[in-house]
Amino acid sequence: MKVKKIFAVFGTRPEAIKMCPLIIELKKKDNIKCVVCLTGQHREMLTQVMNAFQISEDHNLKIMREKQSITAISIAILQNMEEILVSEQPDIVLVHGDTTTSFVAALAAFYQKIPVGHVEAGLRTQNKYSPYPEEMNRCLIARIADYHFSPTENNAQNLRKEGVVSGIYVTGNTVIDAFKYTISDNYHFHNEILERAIGGKEDKRKLVLLTAHRRENWGIPLKHIFRAVKRIAEEHKECLIIYPVHLNPIVKESAESILGKLDNVLLITPLDVLDMHNLMNRCYMVMTDSGGLQEEAPALGKPVLVLRTETERPEAVEAGTVEVVGIDEEHIYKIAKELLVSKTRYEQMSNAVNPYGDGNAAGRIAEILSAE
Ligand code: UD1
Ligand code: UDP
Repeated sequence: MKVKKIFAVFGTRPEAIKMCPLIIELKKKDNIKCVVCLTGQHREMLTQVMNAFQISEDHNLKIMREKQSITAISIAILQNMEEILVSEQPDIVLVHGDTTTSFVAALAAFYQKIPVGHVEAGLRTQNKYSPYPEEMNRCLIARIADYHFSPTENNAQNLRKEGVVSGIYVTGNTVIDAFKYTISDNYHFHNEILERAIGGKEDKRKLVLLTAHRRENWGIPLKHIFRAVKRIAEEHKECLIIYPVHLNPIVKESAESILGKLDNVLLITPLDVLDMHNLMNRCYMVMTDSGGLQEEAPALGKPVLVLRTETERPEAVEAGTVEVVGIDEEHIYKIAKELLVSKTRYEQMSNAVNPYGDGNAAGRIAEILSAE
């Protein structure tokens, strides 16, 4: 039996959350040796995930620097990957999604003529600057990749329209698989501030989960988002708005200056994935510009207001659980308020729908790679 060496590379929190369930499945296969390489584009936020899934890495490029540019990230990864790929000689390099880590790792593999598998392939907004730089990253990875693991049929169609003729597999999204490892009854939060605020018995307040970090929202859009949230917090004392703030200093500074002094807005450090999924499971609604949350919250029946002008995840919008509300303060405020006061509106949006798979995507991908 020939053992295939699969070299999984990732570097940021969302990639890790979606790759860990797959690594667990790959490690179960007798004919696969799975090597894990972290670029370290993120540091603390990545360690949290690795600890939660109890996965350790074989390599870590440790490239994170404070506020570094996309160019600096790309150069560091490309330069460091070469030596490791030459010495490891993997049969396939696996990357995930659309980060700079993913694109540059795929490029490094191409330079060594190593086949590339792309997990979460085929998401598109068709706007090359939104999300930035992710939309272009995912297009470029699709050109390089040999295996395209698409969460939905719609994602597969996007690839076919771009001329990808082979190697497309519709598998579901591995983020749904992650719930198997994270959500539990009678959960106690690891984050002490959160546990003190909402742990233990049922909370009568409406918990609103907020996250925002996207580069195209830096500056004025983030200010609009935070001002709308501030108005909601001031007018709706029955709400507790919980915002685990991304460690990016640009985001942190803006969040603290606008939302820092409100008694029903909790600004906390990034949550580990166990806390995050269990908080999502308990919350009333989600306001976010994150990609991953748009997939997770619908599966838990939580309405999502997307703080962006478009989405590459139209499936849950079509199903009615997600609404793209944009980045205008007045509009965000209006729609969030409607969801808080109108029971009908809330019920329309809070049906649990799960367009992103049955929780077995990782097993499917591992099976395809094992059979190849
Ligand atoms: C990156 C990805 C984005 C993804 C997001 C998920 C790119 C260009 N961007 O954006 O697609 O949606 O991750 O969160 O690939 N920092 C820390 N500790 C950490 C992580 C970040 O201190 O654990 C700080 C550092 O100052 C770092 C900064 O945050 O320089 C920004 O990190 P970076 O990876 O450049 O971009 P993100 O905005 O996190
Ligand atoms: N997440 C987390 N802790 C947090 C915020 C997010 O574990 O404090 C998880 C979230 O549940 C999702 C993923 O991180 O699985 C999304 O990451 P992020 O929003 O950083 O990136 P995106 O999905 O937008 O690329």
